[in-house]
Amino acid sequence: MARTAIGEIVDLGIGQAEDALLPRTELAEAARRGLLAGDGSCMQYGPEEGPEGFRESLAAFLRRHQDPGVTAADLVVTAGASHGLDLLLSRLTRPGDTVFVEDPSYFFALDVLEGRGLRLIGVSMDEDGLDVAALERMLEVERPVLLYTVPVFHNPTGVTLRPDRRQRLVELARRYDFLIVADEVYQLLGSTTPPPMRTLDRDRVLSLGSFSKILGPGIRLGWVEAPWQLWTVLRDCPVLRSGGGVSPVGTAVMREVLDSGMQDEVLLRLTALYDHRRAVLTEALETSLPDDVHFRRPDGGYYAWLELPPDVDAEALATIAPASGVAFRPGRVFSIAGRQRNRLRVCFTYYDDDALRRGGDRLGALLTEHLRGRREAQP
Ligand SMILES: Cc1ncc(COP(=O)(O)O)c(C=O)c1O
Repeated sequence: MARTAIGEIVDLGIGQAEDALLPRTELAEAARRGLLAGDGSCMQYGPEEGPEGFRESLAAFLRRHQDPGVTAADLVVTAGASHGLDLLLSRLTRPGDTVFVEDPSYFFALDVLEGRGLRLIGVSMDEDGLDVAALERMLEVERPVLLYTVPVFHNPTGVTLRPDRRQRLVELARRYDFLIVADEVYQLLGSTTPPPMRTLDRDRVLSLGSFSKILGPGIRLGWVEAPWQLWTVLRDCPVLRSGGGVSPVGTAVMREVLDSGMQDEVLLRLTALYDHRRAVLTEALETSLPDDVHFRRPDGGYYAWLELPPDVDAEALATIAPASGVAFRPGRVFSIAGRQRNRLRVCFTYYDDDALRRGGDRLGALLTEHLRGRREAQP
């Protein structure tokens, strides 16, 4: 368990699962079975898109859990969602192309996009996800090649794009001829999620998936679900050609993890535990936060997003928070335009109940004290 001694800092900025939740022993057993099954070709270079047998098993898993329409022919294996995004960008964009992103957005994805020399434009969000009305206004003056969105349990805000907005987004993509890259790594981490974006349009939407959040980030395997028109473009990537796919050994192991039911069991375990931890942290925050700090209880995923009064700088607070035994991610790191200064992100998957309560209480006390001091200092 990610315990902390009473005196240690509870770092609610850490956005990952704790080590003890990652099923290393079960994986070791599955790895042995997976590697010894078959003819040993997993030790050789493989097909660019990933071995057929693995993609069949993955498609069956995805059909069971999120989208009855997925087939192996839609899937290209990647080294995780980050690699999937970079693969898409390398094949579908040129430096200088315009790409729309949410503001705020997952900061490492912003790095990947910036690394490809793209011209990024932020679209605002609210409690129901991407502001599609704002997007529509922007489309009258800007023509993006694609829009990168985290439509479910968004990082950092925790919000899920409302169904009517999903529909509208897809209509806009058709009308203004851009692709939607839906980063859906949190799709399975909550009970009440709308179906994935591709169910609305299999030609316009590409989806990024990953084992990072449902098994362990060290697996470094994920997938892109792509329209048939783009599937060949993706698999013809020179890096995949030279490497013979991402990791035939990894996919042999993961095929066994999928076929044996291990992934289903781990997913069940993780979602139950994260449900519980989400409740623990949000209750602690609801009890201890001052009235002028707002947040909406997320329904799944990893994160909650706190809004402080407009003129409070969360980055400055982040530097003094460790002295109060707590840490968090200030909002500005998630914005390409230096916005989100009065927001902060906390994660509820890393710590056990006691530490989460302590962290929530400490954050509440810090903000209460800071905001009171500020009010008293005002003339
Ligand atoms: C929205 C989002 N996409 C992608 C990732 C990283 O995924 P992967 O480990 O598969 O590269 C994260 C990790 O925090 C994330 O929050």
